[in-house]
Amino acid sequence: MNIKKILKELTLEEKASLCSGADFWHTKSVDRLAIPQIMVSDGPHGLRKNDETAETPNTAIKAVCFPSACALACSFDRNLLTTMGKALGEECQAENVAVILGPGCNIKRSPLCGRNFEYFSEDPYLSSEIAAAHIKGVQSRGVGSSLKHFAANNQETRRLSVNAKIDERALREIYLASFEGAVKNASPWTVMCSYNRVNGHHSSQNKKLLTDVLRKEWGYEDLVVSDWGAVDDRVEGIKAGLDLEMPASFGKNDKLIVDAVNKGKLSMKQLDKCVERVLRLVDKAEESRTEGKWDKDAHHELAAKIASQCSVLLKNDDGILPLDAKKKICFIGKFADKPRYQGGGSSHINSFKVVSAMDAVKDYCNVDYAQGYITEKDETDKKLLNEAVSCAKKNDIAVIFAGLPDAFESEAYDRKHMRMPECQLELIREVAKVNKNIVVVLHNGSPVEVPFMDDIKGLLEVYLGGQAVGKATCNLLFGKVNPSGKLAESWPLKLEDNPSYLSFPGVGDDLEYTEGIFVGYRYYDTKKMAVRFPFGYGLSYTTFEYSDMHISASEINDDDTLTVSCTIKNTGSCEGMEIVELYVRDKESSVVRPFKELKGFEKVSLRPGESKKIAFNLDKRAFAYYETAINDWFVEYGEFEIMIGASSRDIRLTGSVYVNTDKKLPVQFTFNSTLQDIMSCPEGKEMFADLFDRYCKTMDWANGDGLGEGSKELVMAMIKDTPIRGLLCYDDRPEINRVWLGEMLERLNSMLEG
Ligand code: BGC
Repeated sequence: MNIKKILKELTLEEKASLCSGADFWHTKSVDRLAIPQIMVSDGPHGLRKNDETAETPNTAIKAVCFPSACALACSFDRNLLTTMGKALGEECQAENVAVILGPGCNIKRSPLCGRNFEYFSEDPYLSSEIAAAHIKGVQSRGVGSSLKHFAANNQETRRLSVNAKIDERALREIYLASFEGAVKNASPWTVMCSYNRVNGHHSSQNKKLLTDVLRKEWGYEDLVVSDWGAVDDRVEGIKAGLDLEMPASFGKNDKLIVDAVNKGKLSMKQLDKCVERVLRLVDKAEESRTEGKWDKDAHHELAAKIASQCSVLLKNDDGILPLDAKKKICFIGKFADKPRYQGGGSSHINSFKVVSAMDAVKDYCNVDYAQGYITEKDETDKKLLNEAVSCAKKNDIAVIFAGLPDAFESEAYDRKHMRMPECQLELIREVAKVNKNIVVVLHNGSPVEVPFMDDIKGLLEVYLGGQAVGKATCNLLFGKVNPSGKLAESWPLKLEDNPSYLSFPGVGDDLEYTEGIFVGYRYYDTKKMAVRFPFGYGLSYTTFEYSDMHISASEINDDDTLTVSCTIKNTGSCEGMEIVELYVRDKESSVVRPFKELKGFEKVSLRPGESKKIAFNLDKRAFAYYETAINDWFVEYGEFEIMIGASSRDIRLTGSVYVNTDKKLPVQFTFNSTLQDIMSCPEGKEMFADLFDRYCKTMDWANGDGLGEGSKELVMAMIKDTPIRGLLCYDDRPEINRVWLGEMLERLNSMLEG
C-alpha cells in the first residue's frame, strides 16, 4: 500500500471515516482506493470471534480457552506465554482475525477488582514481562496484539467515568511501568486506551498518556484504539493521539471530525497522523496474512500443559500431595465436575470442549463424588451437604473443589468483599469434622480469605485455568506434574489489610489512589505486615538450594549494567521447576521507597541432584525511582541491597552494590529552606557560615535549665529545622535583611545550577 499517495487521494470525509469502525469488529474499507477492512476480536486468553453464521447474535465461534491472565502470570515463564501467544496467533490467522484484543496489563490494585482475572499482577515488572512475552508470541504469527487498558483501569465500578487521581510517582513506577516494558520490548501493533479518566482527562483524549508518554517518551509508533465505547470527545481524541474509535459510531463522530477540520478547529495534519496509523495497521495486517491452520486438539493439550505450570501449591502438610492413587479418594464440590475455568465478559471463550477433574481423574483411579454445594446462590443445600459429609467419611482423603462462582467476579462490576460463598465454607467446616485429610483446590480469579487453613492439609490454587483445567489439576494432584507456579499477587489475611482498602472504589467518580506507590507487597513488606501468602510464594514436591551468589562489581555507575548470578540445585527426589526472584532495595534514600522491589526472575527446570547457574542483568532502571523534579528516572548514589529468593518473604541470598552517579537533582533554595538543607550543601555552608555561627551562639540559652532536661537535643533539632529566613530575626545587623538574603539565595542557586 502506498500510504503517502493514498493520503493525498483520500477526501476529508473518507479520512474521517477511517478513524472509526465499520461495525463492532471491523475497520472501514475505501473501495475506490482498494483499502480493505480488517477484523479484530477479543482476546486475551482465547479467540472470541463473532460467528456471523450463528442464529443467535453475539455467539462466538468454538475455540480454545487457555488459562486466564491471573493464572498465566503465576507461571513466571516468558517462554510459556510466548508459546501460548503463538497458538493464539495461529488461530487468528486461520480465522482471518488481524488483531486480537489483549493482553490486559492493568495493575491489581485491590483484590476486589472484578476484572483481576484478566490482569497479571500487582507488580509492574512481572506484569510487563509476561505481557511482552504474550505479545511476542501472537505477533510472531503475523497477527497484532492490543495491549489494554491504557491506563489505570484498576476497577470496574463506574469504569467509564471514574477519575483515577494518581500521584506522578505512583503513575510512573506502578501503573504506567506495567505498560512501558511491554510497549518497549514487544511493540504491540495496537494499544487500547482505557474507559476511565486519569487525573482529570479521559484516557481516550488524554494527550499526556497517548502522545507525551506513549509516543514521545516510549517511542511507540503504532496505533491507539479506543476501548469499546470509551470515546468522549472524538475531536479532542484525534488531537491527543487516539487513532481509531471502536466500535462504529454510525458516522456521528466522523461528522464531528469533518466539521472540526472545516471550521479550523482540527488541523488536517493532526487528522492525517491518525489516518496514516490506521492505514499502516491495515497494510501490516494484509501483508502478514497467511493461510492459517491450527489443530484444536493440540491447542487443548497445550492449554492443559500451560495450566499445570501456572497452578500454585500453597499448602502441603504431611506430604498429603501428591495423592496416592491406591488410597480411597473422593472429589467433593461442584467445581470438580463443572470447573469454573474462565471469567465473565468480553474475554469469555466458547470452548470447544471442557475437561473437568472428574473426567481427568479416570486416568488415575476411581473416586467418589459429591456435589456439596450449589453456585446459583449462596445458600446451603442441606441434602448436598449431608451427602458430601458421608462421602468424605467413607474415604481416606477428601479433595474439595471450591472457589468463586461466576456471579462473584466479572467484568463490569467489582467484588464487594474477599470472602468465598458461605455455603462452601460451611461445607469445608463440616467435612473437616469427619475427615482430617483434606485438600482444597481453588478456582477463582483473585485472592479470597481462607478461614479454613487450619482444617486442611493441602491447598492448590488453580485460578481460572482454562478449558483443560481438570486434566492439569489431576496431573498436579497425582504428581505427574510437579507444581511450579508462584503467586503473582499477595494474599492479605483480610481485605482491610489491603493498602487500597480506604479508597476503593472511590466516591462517585472521585477516586484517589491514596496508597501511592505502596501497592501489594510494596506495602505489606515495607510495613512488615503478616500476610496469608506473600507475593512470589509457591511450593513444589521437591526442594531447591540457592548458593554461590556472585555480583559482577562492588561499585558501578548508574548507566552500567550489573550482572548477578547464583546457582540453584534440586535437592529433592523428583524433577521440578523453580522460580528464582531477584529484588532490589535502596538502603538509604532521601525519598520514600518500598522495602524491596522485584527486578528480575527466572524459571529453571532441574532433575533431582542437578544444579544450574542463572544470571540476571540489572540496568539503571533496577535502581531508579521516578523523580518528579526532573520528570525522569533517577538513581540516588549509595548502597543497594540485592536479594535473591524463593518468594518476597523467603530471601535466600543477599549482597550489595554501591551505585555512583554524576547526575544531580536541581536544587533551588528558598527563604523556607531549612538550615540543615542549606548547611549540608558545601556551597551553602561556605556562604552562610558566619550567619549560622552567630545564630548558634544566640541559642546558648539552651545551656541553662529553662527548657528542661534534653534541652541540648531540643535546641539542635530546632536549629536543624529552622528556615533560613528565621535567622534574620536573631541578627541585630540592619544590613542582614530579607533583601540581602534574597540576593544571597539567588547567588547560591545560580552557583548550583552552573
Ligand atoms: C472491554 C475490552 C474488550 C472490548 C471488546 C470492552 O468492553 O473493556 O477489554 O476488548 O470490550 O469486546
